[in-house]
Amino acid sequence: MIIVVLAAGKSTRFKSSKHKALHDLLGKKIIERTSETLLKLNPTKIIYVLGHQLQEIKAELKKQEDFIEQKEQLGTGHALLTGLEGFKEEKTGILVTCIDTPLLTENTLKKLIDSTKANNSQVGILTTKIANPFGYGRVVRDGNKVNAIVEEKDATKDERAINEINAGVYYFNLSPQEIVLGLKSLKNNNQQKEYYLTDMIEWANQQGHTVTALCTEDSNEVLGINTRTDLAEAIKNLSSRSVSRLQAEGVTFINPESSLISPEALIEADTIVYPNCVILGKTKIASDCLIGSNTFIQDSIIGSNSSIKYSYILETEIGNNCSVGPFANLRPGTKLMDEASVGDFVEIKNSTIASRSKVPHLSYIGDSEIGEDVNIGAGTITANFNAITGQKNQTIIGNNVKVGSNSVLVAPVNIADGCMVAAGTVITENVQDEDSLIIARNELKIKKGWVKEKRK
Ligand code: UD1
Ligand code: MG
Repeated sequence: MIIVVLAAGKSTRFKSSKHKALHDLLGKKIIERTSETLLKLNPTKIIYVLGHQLQEIKAELKKQEDFIEQKEQLGTGHALLTGLEGFKEEKTGILVTCIDTPLLTENTLKKLIDSTKANNSQVGILTTKIANPFGYGRVVRDGNKVNAIVEEKDATKDERAINEINAGVYYFNLSPQEIVLGLKSLKNNNQQKEYYLTDMIEWANQQGHTVTALCTEDSNEVLGINTRTDLAEAIKNLSSRSVSRLQAEGVTFINPESSLISPEALIEADTIVYPNCVILGKTKIASDCLIGSNTFIQDSIIGSNSSIKYSYILETEIGNNCSVGPFANLRPGTKLMDEASVGDFVEIKNSTIASRSKVPHLSYIGDSEIGEDVNIGAGTITANFNAITGQKNQTIIGNNVKVGSNSVLVAPVNIADGCMVAAGTVITENVQDEDSLIIARNELKIKKGWVKEKRK
């Protein structure tokens, strides 16, 4: 089977300097999502018809995917003609889809192909019934027979009342050469002065071919992304698909509509996700976790029984029984081992915090290795950036070290196991002796009665 993806359009209604297929849909571009689904069908060839922003779209194509340029965007019929003209292969079986329907599943596409073949039809189209069919092509039927597809702008009042719409997916049990003959006969005498692919239905009927439709019940799948409103709808639908999948696996969502969950996210049973969470990419969350409100997690791994509250977590690994937040910012390369805890207004980047260690309040930890059972006092900073050399340097803190509040560890610096750092200390050299007290302070002076004296 050959697949042709129509993608040359200007995305006018999307109002963007960027082709709509390059916009993000829950952590992946629209084109990536469409392409992944189509490749699962194992086609012998997949051809993208490109025009508007050809270079940018081409850069997204995979090895198995080919493209043909449609220089002028004269309509979907003209786009398919461009894709198939000059095609040598004579085998029948061509699936045509649009780039802007990324919610379609492999399963539905397979059903369309199978039902077209089972009905001995030459053309099978995918349709669905929706409450508000505005903007879509309407399917004009005579029982099982599909007579025509009429576009919104060309439809009569009666036709506009039809709520069965064209999903923009077509399976032709015809050879490329036969389809090309049909496409060449299309006229553009319609409201948009375009060559409509949808007019192929009437052509096929005139040829005596059988045209049937597979009307899918999941109307969310066929959503075509033409506007920003459609994009928001697609994000909502895709997320609710993830939520349903995870609910079936034992995850609790408190107010699921308020959260956004990517299709790639894995969450184990008895984890509870509170409102307003965004969980994206290949995030894996083990069982019995608490993901508190307003948390953003992307491409991270979280062990079981950990709690994450009101935090931002990117490319981070968190162990079992950890506690994070509220208001923590864990940046790429952060690793918290079992039972570690990170509290409020703490930023960590490219650092490991070993088991049972705590960074409870107001700290910056960057490029650091922190041992086991360490306590980092409030306001502690690892000064990792050398402004003269422009280099980032490492801080290594041994096991059982207790760092007093408001200390600065000027990297590169290494503190031996069991040391204690007095509050407010600035450490600029390595401490190799274990269990040392590290203190750098001016002598404290208390002048008795000084204030009273001054007030006089
Ligand atoms: C199209 C269908 C409509 C269907 C809807 C489903 C036609 C005439 N209408 O309408 O019946 O209900 O999809 O989502 O086919 N494209 C090209 N070259 C062109 C024009 C378009 O490659 O010259 C591509 C676009 O990039 C897009 C696809 O074809 O991916 C469909 O075009 P679009 O403008 O989105 O058509 P719709 O108005 O959504
Ligand atoms: Mg469209």
